[in-house]
Amino acid sequence: MNSLLKDKIVSTFLEIYKSQPLVVFSPGRLNLIGEHTDYNEGYVFPAAIDMGMITAIEKSDTNYCSILAYDKKEEYQLDLKKIKPITNGGWRNYIIGVIGEMQKKGIELTPFNIVFGGDIPGGAGLSSSAALENSIVFGLNELFQLGLSKKEMIFISQKAEHNYVGVKCGIMDQYASMFGIENHALLLDCRTVKSTPFKIDFKDHQLVLINTNVKHSLSDSAYNDRRSVCESIAGMLHIKALRDATEYDLESIKDKVTPENYQKALYVIQENNRVVEASKAMQQSDLNALGELLYASHKGLQKQYKVSCEELDFLVEQAKLNKHVLGARMMGGGFGGCTINLIEKTAVASFIASVSEAYKNKFNKECSIYSVEISNGTEIIN
Ligand code: GLA
Repeated sequence: MNSLLKDKIVSTFLEIYKSQPLVVFSPGRLNLIGEHTDYNEGYVFPAAIDMGMITAIEKSDTNYCSILAYDKKEEYQLDLKKIKPITNGGWRNYIIGVIGEMQKKGIELTPFNIVFGGDIPGGAGLSSSAALENSIVFGLNELFQLGLSKKEMIFISQKAEHNYVGVKCGIMDQYASMFGIENHALLLDCRTVKSTPFKIDFKDHQLVLINTNVKHSLSDSAYNDRRSVCESIAGMLHIKALRDATEYDLESIKDKVTPENYQKALYVIQENNRVVEASKAMQQSDLNALGELLYASHKGLQKQYKVSCEELDFLVEQAKLNKHVLGARMMGGGFGGCTINLIEKTAVASFIASVSEAYKNKFNKECSIYSVEISNGTEIIN
């Protein structure tokens, strides 16, 4: 957690509202493997990271809520009796959504003030949205002593995104951000919403994230399209979700779906199996096997599920050229954001230097490198 940022947010809060706030840190996440499997009720393998969102919150005696987005220097005032999504509302809709979903559960809130800010670049695929949603619901739960469980809170966050932002996301991001465990990745079964922690100990290797610093437009609608393709194929197979399908089942309806959609469903089935294989590789400390699974995941995301982009593919190709990188793939929803790379520690510096130069030459823009720590989930940090 970024303590400098925390201090700035708290002092800004004190300056504006003249009262000591409750302060919540909610982390972003990485994902080892298991992309676009969560809304298919399959497996994912995320971990919370030490970058995230810091929210300072306190009750207010005015009759409206005042919210300051510290990074953007944008302020917004809202009336709790008039909660509805705002067209092109950006960050506001995540907060409005959380409040709206809490109200739908019959929770009565009274006015409060918020100052929030973070150190996850937006569009990096590191779940700044889930971190924001979770920090708000967690802060409100504590402030008003609502007694919500962490599980109830992540579903509120997820529904906020579905109903107020319009992205029909799965549960991975909110879960990882809320339930993260220091130095552990969580093998999460998205059907039961239960996870098994795996200690991350890559010995002489480490994870490095590389941000393409691009976020191609239409990624939200492409995301929702992918989800509906998966759901319609599950419907044709008379199963609840693609998690229940085998490649053999899919084969039986091959002539009833387009070749593109067939490949998408096949990707999901194969990716889900790769997560299980990855957990075995982790158990056996077989980093070569884990690395191969990362490359296979990227290939599927690129060629079958078609959610990658030129910049992400380029970074993964660069990784493949370096024998000290065991595996790499795009991470998150796609169309930009970060790749995750498993690299031999002694080779990290030279790889970063060469990949940064190559990226600059190719796209005439910088990529960013993050060496993240695996952190705990959402918590109060006063
Ligand atoms: C986004 C969504 C998640 C998940 C990933 C892809 O991050 O919010 O629910 O579907 O994309 O794995």
